[in-house]
Amino acid sequence: MKRKIIFIIVIGILLTIFGCKDKTDPYQIINSGFEDGMTGWTTSMEEPDLIRTDITYDGHRKYMKEGSAFLSTKSLTEGIEITSSPFKIGGLGKISFLISGNTLENAYVELINHETDEVLLTADSELYDGIVFVDNFTRVIWDATPFMDLEVTIRITDHDPSGYIIVDDFDAKIESDEEHASYIDDVLLRSGIKTDDLLMSAEHYINLYKYRINPETRYTYHVMGEMGWINDPNGFVYFQDEYHLFYQHHPYSSMWGPMHWGHVKSDDLVKWEYLPIAVAPIVLDAGGGAAFSGSAIDIDGELYIIYTENWIGYQHQVIAKSEDGIHFEMLNEGLPVIDESDLPFYANPIDFRDPKIFKHDDLYYSVIGSRQINNFGQVLLFSSANLMDWEYVGPVIQGSINSIYKLGYMFECPDIFELNGIDVLLMSPQQIPGHRNTHGTVYVTGDLNYQTGMLDGWTLDQIQEIDYGFDFYAPQTMVDDQGRRIMVAWMQSWNRSPMTAQYGWAGAMTIPRVITLDAENKLIQYPIEEIENYRSNIQSYEETVSGMVDTDLDGNTIDIELKFYPTTGKSGITLFGDALGNGTHVYYQDGYIYMDRTDSMNGRHSGDFYNITKAPVQIQEDGSIDLRILLDRFSIEVFINGGQQAITSTIYGSNATDSIYLFSEQDTLFEMSHWDLVVE
Ligand code: FRU
Repeated sequence: MKRKIIFIIVIGILLTIFGCKDKTDPYQIINSGFEDGMTGWTTSMEEPDLIRTDITYDGHRKYMKEGSAFLSTKSLTEGIEITSSPFKIGGLGKISFLISGNTLENAYVELINHETDEVLLTADSELYDGIVFVDNFTRVIWDATPFMDLEVTIRITDHDPSGYIIVDDFDAKIESDEEHASYIDDVLLRSGIKTDDLLMSAEHYINLYKYRINPETRYTYHVMGEMGWINDPNGFVYFQDEYHLFYQHHPYSSMWGPMHWGHVKSDDLVKWEYLPIAVAPIVLDAGGGAAFSGSAIDIDGELYIIYTENWIGYQHQVIAKSEDGIHFEMLNEGLPVIDESDLPFYANPIDFRDPKIFKHDDLYYSVIGSRQINNFGQVLLFSSANLMDWEYVGPVIQGSINSIYKLGYMFECPDIFELNGIDVLLMSPQQIPGHRNTHGTVYVTGDLNYQTGMLDGWTLDQIQEIDYGFDFYAPQTMVDDQGRRIMVAWMQSWNRSPMTAQYGWAGAMTIPRVITLDAENKLIQYPIEEIENYRSNIQSYEETVSGMVDTDLDGNTIDIELKFYPTTGKSGITLFGDALGNGTHVYYQDGYIYMDRTDSMNGRHSGDFYNITKAPVQIQEDGSIDLRILLDRFSIEVFINGGQQAITSTIYGSNATDSIYLFSEQDTLFEMSHWDLVVE
């Protein structure tokens, strides 16, 4: 009997603590997060369909809801009022909840005096900006201290026949300062205002706002940010059977800003998947701490990245490690592994960046871009046995008074690797006088001396541009599991207003290109063959042209192979064209392939200097020239004679101009294959 009484008492206590909490606690809103359907809420309409549980994907919460359910009036065409159970405001006197919707018209949340029905406080969704609906919750925190003695309810109203409101996660019992602070943090994160955790902040911001970017205004198969600005490729690597590519990224706007590392991965270098931001700057301040360019290396199944931290007045190199290739932990407690104390006296610590790491024999090496104190560029070589302790080996290449017109004052983003037993150095010299892009991107070959650091045997006149277009910079390479040396570059140039900024993004990568050396040690680059898997709808065209013909072919996301037999005068192809003369013209004349984008720029960047470029070309033995041309909405990449030269540019036509014309001043035979590229 005694045991029975004890049992009943215990059950009673348990029920009071757990079972009846909602009903007994006057400060609790029943079912405040809609996880139990509509339990506890009354509606002005019978059994409306209001609970939604969509959508999570990739581990990101699309709506950034709490739990799995939230309330939405989306399915309704008539007005509704939804009222919570009565409650009292507890704790600090604050009420917090999540709200969004596609309308500001007659849709709101109110705090109601339960006795008098007086409206005490009102909130509507501020996220709707009138242009693009962003279906993501913002957090509201009401100060309800004046109403703490009252019995109140929450009333959700939607009287907008076409609009709707969504809400979630009401909390009227915020008891501690910590709880309050974490809600404030959430308010900031959700509105894109940064907090101390810059990685999380950037990630939240992207998840909130990426929907603003209209898919029609994005590239289809070129890597770009989910939103915002990107520049250089970083950490390009084949890791755990996938291609990983990181990039300089400022998600918060379409302009360059404090640099993060964005991240994508792919199985085939064509279809890419976004991964969380890998690295954030230390502070979001112009003063520095930004994560500048760097590279990656796979060591025994772990991914190491080395990159530059940029501070005003100096730059140094830090290193981080990841087991899964996604989440990185700083090594050396975030302190530099190479800093100005490692520099020779003739290097300026202000410009010391972009380490590209590689292994040779038993040591790790890194080339790093630098500027001499006399303001000529240089690339420096460092070595290390353990990635933590680095030694300066020597200068790989140095600009001098004799090379200034070719080489500028600072060599950014160096990369060095071996092809056919020859060492190839890529670099992006800044401020080349008279260069159409101000900064150039060049390669030179030689023999890297690991004792002195020098690239033996290079000569000034050997230095060649890698790409003759208007938008190609800071290329980086890697070797994949098939032994291919693959290069990607930033498909944009500095100091130009990015043409797509109006769409909420700027910058992309070129198509990845396999690079090799020919018999004369000239760099050959050609699009990775995987892109051909996305070709469809082949159309062929063959004609001897004199004057101009409309081929009746079109498209702005296409792949073309064109062979033609030029004689005298201009002969070539117009892409992104129309009958009014718009278009990008690619043609041969007197030993050069020209690209003229004047008529594809809507008046932007006017002047031949910014719109007409040319690459030297040799007509092949059979009298022909081969062009491979890839278009992707805002870009054109031309590969000449199997990749002996390349011309890469952004263009700014309208999507409506996508016709293809051929033209020639003499009779010229053209043979063309044309595919749509469909990458979804
Ligand atoms: C090259 C560059 C690098 C630097 C990065 C900053 O485009 O200037 O030297 O690390 O961009 O975003």
